[in-house]
Amino acid sequence: MANKKIILTGDRPTGPLHIGHYIGSLANRVKLQDMYKQYVLIADMQALTDNYDNPQKVRDNILQVALDYLAVGIDPQKSTIFIQSMIPQIAELAIIYLNLVTVSRLKRNPTVKTEIKQRGFGENVPAGFLIYPVHQAADITVVKGTLVPVGDDQLPLIEQANEIVRTFNRIYNCSVLKEAEAMISPVSRLTGIDGKAKMSKSLGNALFLSDPADVVVKKVMSMYTDPDHLRASDPGKIEGNVVFTYLDAFDADKDQVQEMKEHYQRGGLGDVVVKKRLIEVLNNLLEPMRNRRADYAKDPAAVMKILFEGTDRTREVAEQTMKEVRAAMCLDYR
Ligand code: TRP
Repeated sequence: MANKKIILTGDRPTGPLHIGHYIGSLANRVKLQDMYKQYVLIADMQALTDNYDNPQKVRDNILQVALDYLAVGIDPQKSTIFIQSMIPQIAELAIIYLNLVTVSRLKRNPTVKTEIKQRGFGENVPAGFLIYPVHQAADITVVKGTLVPVGDDQLPLIEQANEIVRTFNRIYNCSVLKEAEAMISPVSRLTGIDGKAKMSKSLGNALFLSDPADVVVKKVMSMYTDPDHLRASDPGKIEGNVVFTYLDAFDADKDQVQEMKEHYQRGGLGDVVVKKRLIEVLNNLLEPMRNRRADYAKDPAAVMKILFEGTDRTREVAEQTMKEVRAAMCLDYR
């Protein structure tokens, strides 16, 4: 028990989760919950750092993301799902960490840098947004998380969290905080259905876990393949061909995928045949998720209760960590 890993991971509730999230981190979380103690946070405070003018959107997506978690098989009996804003200890810890981080270090964080550019913030980046990596360090360390299954875009954030951990333990001469290790899945940046960029809701190229079967058919049928593969008899390219990218990621029958690739490259295999296989694979994956989602969606109050129970459990652990943190920093006044 003493060396058992503690997982802390989560997502911003800004929209429905997609199959890129699934292959990049949700699938890992479903596996890991049987081995370790797992906390899954719904990062509403982090979502507000660039949605402060639209709190209702964040509020509405709490339930949607919770349904996505339950649908993929994150089991509330095994995992503790909680709401970030309901753990004030995280905010307290973040304020403490802010003394240990420089503004220039934050501006150099590659993930934050990219996001500031994407959002067009420039020099007018909200301070809350700039410091969200510090907040995220608090998410991880408040439960003493040591393993973080996420997409590889999150690596710079975990690195920065570990810097804070080392600085804290050194300056306050203690070993209260623990460093965390990232767990990255081999497919951590799934391309969107347009074949252009990483799958994301904002780019309109996502296939959502909550998409009904007929939407999956429509999206796969519209998928980018090889624009020069005009007739089935022509040799086709598999590089950059999204249908094959997805078969590689989701089809368990690797031999058949290999065969299809060779056939496609030789010529004689039409796009529609390959797409039909992908539709079958994706709908087989998503069908049990749709069923679980529909079950839970019947009773939103029960889903919220799962979140509140997880939050209460997390708060106890968080307060214990804070007692140790306050003691290490001479803040234990009584
Ligand atoms: N930053 C993550 C995202 O963009 C969400 C997140 C918040 C997170 N806190 C975390 C992930 C802690 C892992 C650990 O989706």
